[in-house]
Amino acid sequence: MKRACVIGYPIVHSRSPLIHGYWLRQHKIDGEYLRREVRPEEIDDFLQNFASHGLVGCNVTLPHKEAAARNAKHVTAVVRALGVANTLWLENGELHADNTDVAGFLAHLDDSIPGWQARTEHAVVLGAGGAARSIIYGLKARGVARLTIVNRSRERAHELLRELKIEAAVASYDELSSLLPSADLLVNTTSLGMKGQPPLEIDLESLKKGAAVSDIVYVPLETELLRQARELDHPAVDGLGMLLHQAVPGFERWFGVRPEVTPELRALIVADLVKDAAKQGKS
Ligand SMILES: NC(=O)c1ccc[n+]([C@@H]2O[C@H](COP(=O)([O-])OP(=O)(O)OC[C@H]3O[C@@H](n4cnc5c(N)ncnc54)[C@H](OP(=O)(O)O)[C@@H]3O)[C@@H](O)[C@H]2O)c1
Repeated sequence: MKRACVIGYPIVHSRSPLIHGYWLRQHKIDGEYLRREVRPEEIDDFLQNFASHGLVGCNVTLPHKEAAARNAKHVTAVVRALGVANTLWLENGELHADNTDVAGFLAHLDDSIPGWQARTEHAVVLGAGGAARSIIYGLKARGVARLTIVNRSRERAHELLRELKIEAAVASYDELSSLLPSADLLVNTTSLGMKGQPPLEIDLESLKKGAAVSDIVYVPLETELLRQARELDHPAVDGLGMLLHQAVPGFERWFGVRPEVTPELRALIVADLVKDAAKQGKS
């Protein structure tokens, strides 16, 4: 039996076992996908002895993504550029690392808004944290000509661009109203609007007609940003699609079948999100 898992600290909230468990059942594969808590002080040792754990590979979540990139013997070009990895696998006993957040974000956009790339000359990205790294890299890789990063800390945005060796403009939130009329794509990569976080206060009235809007936050599934975008007839995509699509390449490497992001899988995860929200509502 092939075994994979997701490692992180803490790890109880990861939905990866639900996603991979669905595909294992769907494809009748003799395999298993578990959660495994690895404490920060144990991570280097865990990764350096990866072949001894009986795993074909694993997903990596916070706070171990840098350690995963650092400890893998072979890394993809994306990992080399970003310095963080979320997918590991063994090949001839050696550890390989990839970062599938980039592919996940782009695949979800490709699936949900066909033709977005050809229509996007100017993309405005809100945020310059961990997730923004993958989004900015992905948009640049797809040839988006003009990128503007809007972040509370402008210095953090400049630092991220320096690290990625990407040229883009950096702006503040009070400049947004002058940026939105020329934006073809607006992406929220901040934690604003996420359950338990402050709201993302933004008025989309001035956003260019037909511009696409993406929010990578997926709790709640329909954020205020997406609600507003849909009300104003902008094509809009939520964060759950990115989460589902980023899981595809790992499953394929470990279990040898390229799985699909189906409406049934999406419904399964949505049901879990709803169940969690109800539980939290009661407590
Ligand atoms: N859909 C997916 O697959 C997926 C994948 C990864 C992450 N996510 C989601 O993406 C979000 C961000 O994650 P992350 O790992 O990038 O977090 P992070 O590294 O902590 O970055 C947080 C970002 O939010 C900004 N921010 C936070 N509080 C703010 C406030 N009060 N006002 C203005 N800006 C604020 C930060 O700005 P400063 O730099 O100024 O602090 C920074 O740009 C989370 O909601 C996470 O769940 C989704």
